[in-house]
Amino acid sequence: MGEKSEIKCLQRFVFIYGAPASGKSTLGRALAERLGVGFVDLDERIVAEAGVSIPEIFKTRGEAAFRDLESKVFRDVISDPKVVSLGGGTLLRDENRALCEENGIVFCLDTPSDEELARRIGAAPGSRPLGDKAKERAAHYASFPNRVAAFFDAQSSLVVVGRGIAPAILAGRNVVADETVARLWSCRLGVSPFAIIPSGEEHKTPVTVAKLWRAFAERGLGRKDTVVALGGGVTGDLTGFAAATWMRGISWINVPTTLLSMVDASTGGKTGCDLPDGKNLAGAFHFPRLVVIDTDFLETLSAKLIADGRAEMIKHEAIGGKGFHLRQGYGGQAGVSAKEIAENLMVKVGIVREDPLETLGRRILLNCGHTVAHAIEKATGYRVSHGEAVAIGCVEEAKIAVRRGLAPTSWPEEFAARFAAAGLPTSLPVGLSLKEIVPLMRGDKKREGGVVTFALPCGWGDVRGVKIDLSKEIL
Ligand SMILES: NC(=O)c1ccc[n+]([C@@H]2O[C@H](COP(=O)([O-])OP(=O)(O)OC[C@H]3O[C@@H](n4cnc5c(N)ncnc54)[C@H](O)[C@@H]3O)[C@@H](O)[C@H]2O)c1
Ligand SMILES: [Zn+2]
Repeated sequence: MGEKSEIKCLQRFVFIYGAPASGKSTLGRALAERLGVGFVDLDERIVAEAGVSIPEIFKTRGEAAFRDLESKVFRDVISDPKVVSLGGGTLLRDENRALCEENGIVFCLDTPSDEELARRIGAAPGSRPLGDKAKERAAHYASFPNRVAAFFDAQSSLVVVGRGIAPAILAGRNVVADETVARLWSCRLGVSPFAIIPSGEEHKTPVTVAKLWRAFAERGLGRKDTVVALGGGVTGDLTGFAAATWMRGISWINVPTTLLSMVDASTGGKTGCDLPDGKNLAGAFHFPRLVVIDTDFLETLSAKLIADGRAEMIKHEAIGGKGFHLRQGYGGQAGVSAKEIAENLMVKVGIVREDPLETLGRRILLNCGHTVAHAIEKATGYRVSHGEAVAIGCVEEAKIAVRRGLAPTSWPEEFAARFAAAGLPTSLPVGLSLKEIVPLMRGDKKREGGVVTFALPCGWGDVRGVKIDLSKEIL
């Protein structure tokens, strides 16, 4: 593939396009700020040039004159690398589209629902000409392959979810990847990571963190530099932790490549590594400045890794509630859409917003099923993957909820069916009983003496923090 020209072109411009009121200016401004590059809003430039508002130009001079002015301003803007948010019809002209595609990459925002669009246009009447044209131009907008399905703030992170958007973000940056992701994706992305770490949880250790520090030193990274993690939860946690501790904290961007890291590990600010004494024992809260979730990465994931991600998605459904659960329904399909990921991630983001540093007892809800899951992982020497352990852990914890009178007896079966439909196991591995793994739960890092706080799933939208003294009580 033409790697060289791809790098060159991607290092130049990101054009944000889409229907009127789809959020182009907001996303463009936020993205430019997070990437540390310049930003231009084409409509603002046109207004400055014309000295009157856009509706006024349409009214007094007509659409053709507006498009001429737009093309002129657009050509002036193409000078140095930046993010440009375009007008809702700028690329209807072939000449403008060709200029964009020669000079960079176009991110096209999905058109919001009719309701949402009406709300946004209604909020600023008259300020957006052609607001009703979104439908008419549906085929035009759909012809842009690089899509943004959603974007939102999560603490100090800007999260952008879409398809085909990662290459433009990665080009020319300080990228860390694991061996597997580097092998599968470097060429396709046109990216050469400056640090490549070994793949797998067994390498989520202080040794790998020290390797990253070494690589940062050799790269000459200073306080103002930004590193980018390209990989699953292990790469994200390690790179984020190395960034948190390098020169007392440099900024980082997270580009998650597994479903699990997209819907869970990518946001929430937890970074760290494992120690012989336990998982994630050394760590820091360090929120990435930007999280770019690109569903193209799902193409190379095995069915097992997809199922691992789905386990966390179903956990979020349990936390998010029945309305949320019913809206989802991927019913065993292999594909997961950007919209679905964004909606699912919002459950975690909502909770993290309420309790960013896990000091208020809200964030514990995200630990649903995890007290049992971590014990299963330990008991089986990590042969049961995290996602599988979460599925089993959620069902076992649902049974604990029933035994404590907190959930209806039908609940564990209903919950289990959801995991089973996603290809996940729902019962403890043969030869392992809940009783046997209780001592391992006591070793969980969230314990206080013999007391462990479980986040017990009691129904859709009903996960409760429950303290259980494992030295006295029977599960
Ligand atoms: N920070 C948090 O809030 C948080 C939340 C949940 C989980 N985690 C952590 O995340 C880790 C688990 O995440 P994970 O499952 O992504 O693990 P991982 O990073 O080890 O990835 C799993 C495997 O998939 C490979 N891989 C990654 N992207 C791929 C792709 N696109 N195609 C093919 N293979 C690919 C990796 O090389 C690895 O072998 C655990 O260490 C867990 O503690 C952190
Ligand atoms: Zn988990």
